[in-house]
Amino acid sequence: MAKLFFLISGENKTLPLAELLAILEAEKYEFCITEKLDQVIRLKAEKKSINSVYLRSAYTRVCALELFTCEPTEEKIINNLNKINLTSVLNEQESFAVRIKRVRNYAKKSVVMDLEKKIGKKILQNTKKTRVNLSMPDKIFVGILTSGKLIFGLNIATICPKPFGERRPRKKPFFHPSAMPSKLARCMVNLAHAKRNDLVLDPFCGTGNTLIEATFIGCRTLGLDAQRKMLEGCKQNLEHFNITPEGLILSDARKHPIIKTNCVITDPPYGRCCSTMNSTTKKIVKMVLFSVMSLLKKGDRICIASPKSIHLSQVGKTVGYKHIESHFVYVHRSLTREIAVFEKQ
Ligand SMILES: C[S@@+](CC[C@H](N)C(=O)[O-])C[C@H]1O[C@@H](n2cnc3c(N)ncnc32)[C@H](O)[C@@H]1O
Repeated sequence: MAKLFFLISGENKTLPLAELLAILEAEKYEFCITEKLDQVIRLKAEKKSINSVYLRSAYTRVCALELFTCEPTEEKIINNLNKINLTSVLNEQESFAVRIKRVRNYAKKSVVMDLEKKIGKKILQNTKKTRVNLSMPDKIFVGILTSGKLIFGLNIATICPKPFGERRPRKKPFFHPSAMPSKLARCMVNLAHAKRNDLVLDPFCGTGNTLIEATFIGCRTLGLDAQRKMLEGCKQNLEHFNITPEGLILSDARKHPIIKTNCVITDPPYGRCCSTMNSTTKKIVKMVLFSVMSLLKKGDRICIASPKSIHLSQVGKTVGYKHIESHFVYVHRSLTREIAVFEKQ
């Protein structure tokens, strides 16, 4: 197993780490966490696991092969650079760049620039016929300053969050205020352990964000919605991305016609901008959790969102699921979402 580290987003306290671990679990990689730092996770896993994280993650920013971790003093850093075998990662004639990133306020900007220069100089000294190229380097060394440490390594992948911004609800042909942000929808797909070719069911598909994000990681999708106008809008959004779902069905999620799925990822109505149709969110959630149970095998997962006041974890346990984890996402003063993950037992 290789020593890897991941820079994860700081936009939520628990979701980015949970998503990263869920991807490794879903793709069946063995891994062992060595250290959890502020926005950086150090772990041992197969190097190729980085590819899965790169292709799937919404909240990971950098995936790197660790070369050393130390106190961020010049002396310690230079000592470590002298100890490691740089020629194993940087060949003769190759160009490189050093990029140091700081998490929050763990270092001043001037420290970052100074470190980049000093580390670059040392790498030049310790390798043969290599050169610095800041615009198109063959290799990128990355260092993260966090929690009083520098975690330094070879950058394998940088994940750009821009595509999620480009797929945000307001940019889609059909918009509804109840739509879930694309990044959160992707994260839920990951938390549910959805895998390539799995059939993913969203029984409250709305504008289709979950279906779209699940398709982007290679899943087959099935959407239900009780409102024709939402289903028509969902179809329009899917077509915009050239997505053909396995089915889009006008159906009450509590009495659906589905017989099988690999996982369920959903965001039921909250009764605010989206009607609960003479019921309550809690009752709908309970009935749907109950109605999809028979579709799943032991160990299959459901990832579901609801207002925190519903106490999703309790509802799911009452229905008979194993509660795996819950995360809380602040939306505005009167709405914090609970994202709960359940497993069929
Ligand atoms: C919160 S929205 C889903 C948002 C969706 N995740 C998205 O990103 O667009 C809830 C959806 O559930 C639908 N709905 C409400 N009650 C339903 C029911 N009993 N069965 C199926 N769909 C229902 C609504 O029409 C709405 O589209």
